Amino acid sequence: MSTEKTERIGIIMNGVTGRMGTNQHLVRSILAIREQGGVLLEDGRRLMPDPILTGRNEGKLKALAEKYGVEKYSTDLDAVLADDSYSVFFDASGTPYRVDFLERAIAAGKHIYCEKPTAVDPAEAFRIADVAEVAGVKNGTVQDKLWLPGIQAFRKLKEEGFFGEILSVRGEFGYWVFPGHDEAQPAQRPSWNYRKEDGGGMIIDMHCHWRYVIDNLFGEITEVFTHAATHLPERIDEDGKPYVCTADDSAYALFKTDTGVICQFNSSWDVRVRRDDLLTMQVDGTKGSAIVGLRKCWAQSAANTPRPVWNPDIDSPIDFYAGWEEVDPGACDNAFKIQWELFLKHVVNDEAFPWSLREGAKGVALAAKSLESHEAGSWIKV
Ligand SMILES: NC(=O)c1ccc[n+]([C@@H]2O[C@H](COP(=O)([O-])OP(=O)(O)OC[C@H]3O[C@@H](n4cnc5c(N)ncnc54)[C@H](O)[C@@H]3O)[C@@H](O)[C@H]2O)c1
Repeated sequence: MSTEKTERIGIIMNGVTGRMGTNQHLVRSILAIREQGGVLLEDGRRLMPDPILTGRNEGKLKALAEKYGVEKYSTDLDAVLADDSYSVFFDASGTPYRVDFLERAIAAGKHIYCEKPTAVDPAEAFRIADVAEVAGVKNGTVQDKLWLPGIQAFRKLKEEGFFGEILSVRGEFGYWVFPGHDEAQPAQRPSWNYRKEDGGGMIIDMHCHWRYVIDNLFGEITEVFTHAATHLPERIDEDGKPYVCTADDSAYALFKTDTGVICQFNSSWDVRVRRDDLLTMQVDGTKGSAIVGLRKCWAQSAANTPRPVWNPDIDSPIDFYAGWEEVDPGACDNAFKIQWELFLKHVVNDEAFPWSLREGAKGVALAAKSLESHEAGSWIKV
């Protein structure tokens, strides 16, 4: 290794006063990378992120900057974009505003990294991918689930051939998001999530994730069948006012893949949890099965598979939770941080980063096809 040298990389962090921006991107990724002494590159250099926070509300930006000891913030995005000392633009603002922000940043020559969905409309999502590619800037979209410990453990099993032939996947995602009518139980998610006109909806939110999860782990999605529902018609917003829920809050979906693996994902903010995690995927293969959660993964081999006999007249003699072994994922860091480090290495060292705006657009396209399937009541080719 050559001598250690620290190199600064200026990052504009836009719309990070929100939930994801603050928790996952600022605190657990960029500030955590700073705390660990930067991103270590192969040649021994260390890349030190230098963030500036941008947004509309000076008070919120100041409070956030002071709370976490970030030196710089600004409400004048154009001035910051004009500053050549910042080479990366990151966006975690509300979905409807993203494309406009990305376009301005690309025009200013910045490399682009952003939250999903990259847009609400697939045409816009593919267009902004084109714009970034034509401009020749590096670009990426958050696909955090790929680096979760549970999924890392699943990948290890899959590489070892544990499953034999994978047959099917049952994803269960969701939890009870309080509608807020009871003052003692306010909603724990932003109200825009339940308004279509503000970029909300279960399908646009979660089918973007299911696209890259399924494509990367099980096979490229070829067809979708979805039924969507808005189970709760009214919720209470951040100001305590009732509003009409115009977006789907639940989606019941089947996905066919080019490998023949059938994936079935239920996604709902109107379910109470009695399972191992807020997201679980049951993967069944000819030689073994796994329950893949966010942080943990349990496996059952063919040898440990019980032999149930149908008899509803007696309590089950089998404990179906026995015979599953927890799989060690190995050392795991925060999933968002891992992807940030890979993106920064891509920017400075041209290391591979396949999780581009174009890949993100495929998630937006799947969401649109899912809604089309719901409207038509039929399978739609992807
Ligand atoms: N990767 C994931 O797992 C994941 C999870 C949740 C949300 N998200 C995505 O992250 C984004 C933010 O979601 P959230 O839950 O943090 O929402 P949020 O409402 O908590 O935050 C949105 C942020 O955008 C800011 N904002 C809104 N309009 C803006 C504008 N015109 N200019 C500048 N800033 C603006 C808000 O002030 C706020 O800081 C969404 O696109 C959402 O889909 C991703």
